[in-house]
Amino acid sequence: MTAQILDGKALSQRLRREMADTVTQLSATYGRAPGLAVILVGEDPASQIYVNNKKSACAQVGIASFSHTLPSDTSQEHVLGLIGEMNHDPRIDGILVQLPVPQQINPERIIEAITPSKDVDGFHPYNLGCLTARKPALRSCTPYGCMRLLEETGIDLHGKEAVVVGASNIVGRPMAMELLLAGSTVTVCHRFTEDLAAHVARADIVIAAAGKQDLVRGEWIKPGAIVIDVGIHRLEDGSLTGDVDFAIASQRAAWITPVPGGVGPMTICMLLANTVQSYQTAHLAHNTEL
Ligand code: GUN
Repeated sequence: MTAQILDGKALSQRLRREMADTVTQLSATYGRAPGLAVILVGEDPASQIYVNNKKSACAQVGIASFSHTLPSDTSQEHVLGLIGEMNHDPRIDGILVQLPVPQQINPERIIEAITPSKDVDGFHPYNLGCLTARKPALRSCTPYGCMRLLEETGIDLHGKEAVVVGASNIVGRPMAMELLLAGSTVTVCHRFTEDLAAHVARADIVIAAAGKQDLVRGEWIKPGAIVIDVGIHRLEDGSLTGDVDFAIASQRAAWITPVPGGVGPMTICMLLANTVQSYQTAHLAHNTEL
């Protein structure tokens, strides 16, 4: 078997074109564009690239971005003050603080300072709780993008064995809740899991989000499985690879995401979708009050 490719780049381009039309209509109706504030503290080169990609994606669909690039010695109080102002700024529908932040700043304090209705990363405990309680509000972008990719296969997820490799707050845990909400039987594997190979081998759906290059061996994949690779690692020759051994896994799976061009573009796309959703919710709430 040779897997069909789940092309996140192509899907995200299609979704962005559709979103650009929606944003044009909404901007004409309400007299302003949706707005996303992006805060970057420090000079981490990878973060600078991610932030620039997010800003240019905003421009492409007509979302206004408000960018704040702060020096690496910025105090936590300063960032909290900025977030406090943005929470009340009617031009801003989404607030994103690029992670990681320098060590003098506690990321949990930052995430929890963002008002949940503007938490377009979907990292706030309120939004994670809503998903857990089967009432998703703003959904974490990477798991949301993975769900959108799974939808492309047309396969009903009810009753499927899903194995999530990695239990981070920003990917593994919300991913497990998304799959549970979709009716799958979910196992979450992590650093203390014994016999990872045995779990992966019985999975109809594998989500690899451990942040370890080639952790998921191709021979482990059940024939016909769907494999979603969230990992991204730069090799010495400058090329990118994921958490899954693609060469062998793609000979066994029915569907697989490439790295790059799989989950990465979908994460940014769902960030834009969340910003538009937040804007629409804000306007609906306002109209209801009238
Ligand atoms: N750092 C790595 N991924 C992300 C993300 O999705 N959002 C933010 N804010 N920071 C990140």
